[in-house]
Amino acid sequence: MKIQDFIKAMVLLIPISLLMPTSLIYGHGEKRPMKKGILLVAFGSTIPEAQVSFENIENSVRKTFPGVPVYWAYSSHIIINKMAKEGKHLATPEEALAKMMREDFTHVAVQSLHTIPGEEFHGLVENVHKFAGMNKGIKRVLVGHPMLATSGDVQKVAETIVKIIPKERKKKEAVVLMGHGTHHPADVYYAALNYHLQKLDPYVFVGTVEGWPEIDDVIEDLKKGGLKKAYLMPFMSVAGDHARNDMAGSEEDSWKSILEKEGIQCVPVLKGTAEYQEFVDIWVDHLKTAFSHFP
Ligand code: CO
Repeated sequence: MKIQDFIKAMVLLIPISLLMPTSLIYGHGEKRPMKKGILLVAFGSTIPEAQVSFENIENSVRKTFPGVPVYWAYSSHIIINKMAKEGKHLATPEEALAKMMREDFTHVAVQSLHTIPGEEFHGLVENVHKFAGMNKGIKRVLVGHPMLATSGDVQKVAETIVKIIPKERKKKEAVVLMGHGTHHPADVYYAALNYHLQKLDPYVFVGTVEGWPEIDDVIEDLKKGGLKKAYLMPFMSVAGDHARNDMAGSEEDSWKSILEKEGIQCVPVLKGTAEYQEFVDIWVDHLKTAFSHFP
């Protein structure tokens, strides 16, 4: 081809391409149908009982969002690696979203099944948003708040805790909740929750394993109230290692042992928040809020 012919051809082709609808230029460009999905993200647990709670959460979600596909992922790499050694493959949120992207989802609501908006939650938000707006990818990703986010949530959770206290507990018996606690600024939620609980019932206290308030703070309050018996309850989604060992274990440094040494009789209740429908409803409500932002 002579150079003049080439230029002529280009001069002809450029305006034609400008007139063509973009769908023709890019080929196969039919508009993608909207496809909404839900991704549930828990911290994860190695104890088999946790699976029952997770299934219960999934059932509630499916009932609330009939026909919407539900996927699972876990935010703890330690748990994922432990489970992999047992031959069980659990997805990270990134793996689950890559799969959903491959399956042509356009709108994904991610629900954090964490307790506070701490490290796990913020890491999740940061990563999942990277999946929105990729070429051939998911258009919109929204994340539902964990159990505690707004002041209203803190109050509601306090009211829920008071409702699920074992019926046999008497008025002058204490209830001590074991929260996880964190070095993350969101550790303040435990103190906020304690505040609301005290307003509802002056003998219900919150302590944490890795944050503040600590068990020593709780002991001070128990002594001030002259309390001789305490129900110990995990304030974590699953009654796993912390609940079984750090809270109710027979080791010297478990909360049960520490409190008993102080002359306080202990009744451990080994049930995580995910086992109570009342708490599951709070997560599902948060998912509803996120989902309602989709067209
Ligand atoms: Co821990």
